Amino acid sequence: MEDEEPCELPARSQSCAARMVQQRKMTFWQIENGLDSDSSREQVRVPNVIALVGLPARGKTYISHKLCRYLNWIGIKTKAFNVGEYRRKVCNLDEQGKYEFFNPNNKQGTKIRDECAKMAMEDMGRYLESKEGEVAIFDATNTTRKRRRWLVDFCKQEHREPKFRVFFIESVCDDPEIINSNIAEVKVSSPDYKGHMTEEQAKEDFLKRIENYKSQYEPLDEQLDDDLSFIKVINAGRSFYVHNVNGHVQSRVVYFLMNIHLLPRSIYLTRHGESEYNKIGRLGGDSPLSVNGEKYAKCLLEYFQHEKVPGDLRIWSSQKTRACQTASALKSVAAHVEYWKVLDEIDAGICEGLTYEDFEARYPKQFVERDKDKYHYRYPSGESYEDLVARLEPVIMELERQSNVLVVSHQAVLRCILAYFDNKNRQELPYLNVPLHTVIKLTPKAYSCKIEMFKFNIDAVDTYRAKPEIPTWEESNAEKMCHSP
Ligand code: SIN
Repeated sequence: MEDEEPCELPARSQSCAARMVQQRKMTFWQIENGLDSDSSREQVRVPNVIALVGLPARGKTYISHKLCRYLNWIGIKTKAFNVGEYRRKVCNLDEQGKYEFFNPNNKQGTKIRDECAKMAMEDMGRYLESKEGEVAIFDATNTTRKRRRWLVDFCKQEHREPKFRVFFIESVCDDPEIINSNIAEVKVSSPDYKGHMTEEQAKEDFLKRIENYKSQYEPLDEQLDDDLSFIKVINAGRSFYVHNVNGHVQSRVVYFLMNIHLLPRSIYLTRHGESEYNKIGRLGGDSPLSVNGEKYAKCLLEYFQHEKVPGDLRIWSSQKTRACQTASALKSVAAHVEYWKVLDEIDAGICEGLTYEDFEARYPKQFVERDKDKYHYRYPSGESYEDLVARLEPVIMELERQSNVLVVSHQAVLRCILAYFDNKNRQELPYLNVPLHTVIKLTPKAYSCKIEMFKFNIDAVDTYRAKPEIPTWEESNAEKMCHSP
């Protein structure tokens, strides 16, 4: 038995079940936007370009990575185009990676940089026009008004229908601590420098590169750039200036940027201890912990006593009995324990309480449908993983705002949260392995997230069910084709 833990068999008649199969739950977001559940896969129709603005070492690529991951996770297909990466492909870094290359008076350097920006823009245009994606992030310094106008004109070219909507994110930072930590953490080990010079030389070179950009920097201005849509993120989110926000994507982006922070912290994820229903392989339900599950809760307390989480630890648990029992054993190490319904396991609808064998025997077509596309498959009268992601978005936003948090929840829920932090796509998400009696520690880093798994030595059933091999159309029809007259 894998994830979603079935419970008691629901006493529902066949006709009632059939009615419920017809009934399709809509998420809050879909209702808000007047969309039915199928059209949610095409949520965003106007292509959006999000362009970063700012001096080097102001966290533009950090924002670009984070935003890309978030938008993809909520179902808005997004790709980042980093102009520095285009430059590195065409340049000899021994000669053209140093600060002189970025001097605005260096004609050859300027020409190459403009060409790289053009290549990135054109790739971005193809990406959006082909409808491969809905949002493109243009990750470059874009420090001059001329460069920004060029980008806007490109997005509004006559032949484009619809025109691309453009939103600028300017990262303004004069806090030397933030700038220096960005240079030390990311820049000195960037491919521009690694293997080409020492860390000290890299730091010195990079500071001179910043000076070259400063000499031509024109920040976004509420009057001079009145026609543009933009947000200024000041000193990594200490304050913001928001101007002319236009449309759904831009407002989501603004909300997201206003919630993220750079402070060091860890997020811990754990499933509840093994439950009585886990032991007998039933989906869902609200059964209590098994004896081994109780042992896990006790060991979890010891783990957090040794972990000595700096500052306060918040614990958020689902409202299911097995999760509450696990979380309440940890009260002495937590500043707060909160019980959130939104963290309850995926609703398996008419399959709640069934084992996988029951599910396959009673609803064979549904069973196959689920294996074909587990992310979008919605249990009749229940939820899909896609629904779960929509339900969990406020949790992600709150996790972004907080410092150290332990989430005590369930397999499907934790898969969604883990996929967000580990940047996993929708095919991978429903098959992530989140075993019982294991703590997953997530420590966000500059462009990624460190993931550590601590498996406890307490027996538990294995609820993982790997992705089954689905035969291709040719394979499943091979026999028929061989026998066809
Ligand atoms: C780079 O070449 O590293 C950045 C290009 C730019 O200035 O946008």
